[in-house]
Amino acid sequence: MCGIFGYVGNKTNAATIVFEGLKRLEYRGYDSWGIAVVPTASEKSKVKSEKLINTIVVKKKTGKIGNANVNDMPSSSFAFGHTRWATHGGVTQTNAHPHLDCTGRIALIHNGIFENYEGIKKTLVKKGHRFTSETDTEVAVHLIEEYRKTMALAKAVQKAFNDMAGLNAIIVIDSDRNQLIAARNGSPLVIGFGHQENFLASDAAALLPHTKQVHFLEDDEMTIVGHKGIMIFDAKTGTKIAPKVQKLTWSTRQAEKGTYPYFMLKEIHEQPDIIADISETMISPAKRMTEVIRKSQGTYLVGCGTAGYACMAGSYLFSKVAKRHVNWAVGSEFGYQLNFLTKKSLVMALSQSGETIDILESVKKAKNNGASIVALVNVLGSSLYRMADHKTLIGAGPEKAVASTKAFTAKIAYLVLLAYGLAGKTKEGQTVLMHAVSSGKKVLSSLSLARIQKLASRLKNTEHIFVVGRGISYPASLETALKIKEISYIHAEGFAAGELKHGVIALVEKDTPCIVFAPNDEAYGANLAGAMEMKARGGFIVGISHKPHEVFDYYIPVDDACEATIIPNVIVGQLLAYYLAIEKGLDPDMPRNLAKSVTVK
Ligand code: AGP
Ligand code: GLU
Repeated sequence: MCGIFGYVGNKTNAATIVFEGLKRLEYRGYDSWGIAVVPTASEKSKVKSEKLINTIVVKKKTGKIGNANVNDMPSSSFAFGHTRWATHGGVTQTNAHPHLDCTGRIALIHNGIFENYEGIKKTLVKKGHRFTSETDTEVAVHLIEEYRKTMALAKAVQKAFNDMAGLNAIIVIDSDRNQLIAARNGSPLVIGFGHQENFLASDAAALLPHTKQVHFLEDDEMTIVGHKGIMIFDAKTGTKIAPKVQKLTWSTRQAEKGTYPYFMLKEIHEQPDIIADISETMISPAKRMTEVIRKSQGTYLVGCGTAGYACMAGSYLFSKVAKRHVNWAVGSEFGYQLNFLTKKSLVMALSQSGETIDILESVKKAKNNGASIVALVNVLGSSLYRMADHKTLIGAGPEKAVASTKAFTAKIAYLVLLAYGLAGKTKEGQTVLMHAVSSGKKVLSSLSLARIQKLASRLKNTEHIFVVGRGISYPASLETALKIKEISYIHAEGFAAGELKHGVIALVEKDTPCIVFAPNDEAYGANLAGAMEMKARGGFIVGISHKPHEVFDYYIPVDDACEATIIPNVIVGQLLAYYLAIEKGLDPDMPRNLAKSVTVK
């Protein structure tokens, strides 16, 4: 889940280059951060102290990077850094990466969980290694130190990496040579090719200001990155592998905040343009995909969190528009319920990052059962993208706020096209999406924003919020509740409106905020009935609908966009969550305890 950035080249401000890289990656983990540099030879000679010769200079801090800087670090052409999402050991400066061996000459950063670290640590302690942190990570650097006694560094790294159980990515540096030595299994790593300089990062978007030429390391690939050359080889066998250089399609500007105060607000505002773009440019890929779905015997949608709710919405769309039964499951559960998959089954995995481990694991199991895999992802070259038999990029551009917004609506837009395509009504699907574009734009107008912000200011001190809807408004409710929980830390629950009377309504009392989706669809009357039931118990009813109704205590208008109304409806939910966070003085981009890409189980 962490962010990793490494630089080796001819510039002498490596610490700053890595620091700026980490800032672009911080959404991947932000408990603490750290950078290690190997000072340039001239820097070393400036310092009289013997201490700086052959040693690595490390700076580590807890918390977000914020306004920190690395001006106090020595000039260097070689550095790496890490933003942590703690798994083993608390959030302390000592536990932050990089970790050093006993001599201070080898440093290591790590993404993942070193599952068998405990036994190895015991053996190393017996051999005299001194540990300073509580992390699993530190064991890896001492293991390399141990192996290094009898073999070259690259061999020692390879051997240690192969000893590590679990899904891991590591980068190692040594004060004697300007080379980044890295290996991955499960956790992502990308090599960036520059001129007289090369890079390593856990996310390709972080490389954009430097290069668009990249190689995505595959599982069990290892690399030695120097400033003039790169070597890739199989970590198990040592066999050399030729780099597969790919060109990134995103621009640096797309990955920046621009004039917006937060990435989340920028990403929310980008949605109408993205949906319009999908309706124009995705027709051919959607057509190809509909053929694949048609030929399959059983299609299953799989995703986690927000992507999971997109899958759920897809199951309603396929049923209603295409009259087709498509199951959906959350990624972390799908692995336990896929024994029925056959060679004729099709699994459509939806993921913004393409790196979510719960998805990757269940997709691997589905593949083992012979099923074909469709990936609907936002990140080119991501693990899921590479693993899939049929790949589609949803084209939402870099999504940096931890709370997913535009990737959700982009996936829905694509599912709308697929559902209409299966029904032989592609043109109608495009028209419906264009309705969602204009409805979404209206939700984003200043008048509407002010209305949603006013509601947020009214609800900011509430402890619980209920969000309900029937039909496709059920996943809209779940997604809205998730957004509210994630970034405002208010307890919000999404329910199928019809389930209220089966228990949940016991929680509604005077002034309990109840958000009701009541779009212009077959569930309109039933959604209003749910609103009435909650109002009768004293609930404060917020109606999100194409027309006002007397049961609503607060009304947020959303123009009807037929089967794609879930898109503008969820934009309202995203904005409400955003303004709740702002009203509470919270950072919506980097909510506590979360990270953008969930690469651990
Ligand atoms: C969304 O707001 C969440 N932070 C989270 O639920 C996310 O959607 C989930 O982890 C799946 O991520 P993915 O789309 O990158 O696979
Ligand atoms: N398991 C390591 C730790 O807790 C790495 C976590 C990460 O990927 O950030 O420090």
